[in-house]
Amino acid sequence: MRHLISPLDLSVEELDDLLELAKDIEKNPKKYAHACDGMKLATCFYEPSTRTRLSFESAMLSLGGSVLGFAGADSSSAAKGESVADTMAVISCYADICAIRHPKEGAALVATTKAKIPVINAGDGGHQHPTQTLTDLLTISSLKGRLDNLTIGLCGDLKFGRTVHSLINALIRYSNVKFVLISPEELKIPDYIREEVLDKNNIEYVELERLEEALPDLDLLYMTRVQKERFFNEEDYVRMKDFYILTSEKMKLAREDMLVLHPLPRVNEIAVEVDDDPRAVYFKQAQYGVYVRMALILTLLKWRDEVC
Ligand code: CP
Repeated sequence: MRHLISPLDLSVEELDDLLELAKDIEKNPKKYAHACDGMKLATCFYEPSTRTRLSFESAMLSLGGSVLGFAGADSSSAAKGESVADTMAVISCYADICAIRHPKEGAALVATTKAKIPVINAGDGGHQHPTQTLTDLLTISSLKGRLDNLTIGLCGDLKFGRTVHSLINALIRYSNVKFVLISPEELKIPDYIREEVLDKNNIEYVELERLEEALPDLDLLYMTRVQKERFFNEEDYVRMKDFYILTSEKMKLAREDMLVLHPLPRVNEIAVEVDDDPRAVYFKQAQYGVYVRMALILTLLKWRDEVC
């Protein structure tokens, strides 16, 4: 049985197969409409979510399965002090597969210790968000036609933004991928990503503070929100929150074919006027999240059945 805790839990070949499956699901949804008849997905969300939880639920329902779960720690027995591992031992009696989101780094890995079903990390603190990465990779592959030979700008909260950490980990496995890391000094990429991931693998990158300086060279701009929930004090958050605002005026500096991605939710970092720019693909990206989660559920259940 396999879990998905980090994007690196999938080999490049497995990832390519998963993306191909997601593309087939997009083209032929009816073919998969009963693929999970009689199966149940549990969504155990200890932290707020719109896209991840609902796209998982939409994915399972589109496969013919059912969903159960909780949308906040307060409505589960976590409020009475139950551990994540114990909760997962119990959820294993109720569901065939589980997606878990938790504010603590490593919680999804802990969940696997007592799980008897495949566990999917739907975001653990500021650490990883592998299914957002699958969504991002499907978006890039579908709309750019490739995952290699790309110059990617990552802009905003690179310190706490778990989507950025997961995306870097996944993309360094493709050839000639360069990163432009755009952030204020306080929100720079953590040292462990810079040293253990980028430097160790000889990945080309630059660190900049001005978005305008980066824009002309990018194939993709991945905007992120400043992660309010990870700040220790409100004052620091307020100082940082509007550091970057992508406007139609700034988009004039970018190439005609530069795509703008954002894992969402957006706060102020992309002006609403940019939504009408054909290069803004963040809402399409949310739709790709359903196809790729359908592909992931199918793949993990297939691997479980091969073992059982
Ligand atoms: N992108 C993302 O994880 O969104 P939610 O927090 O709404 O799930």
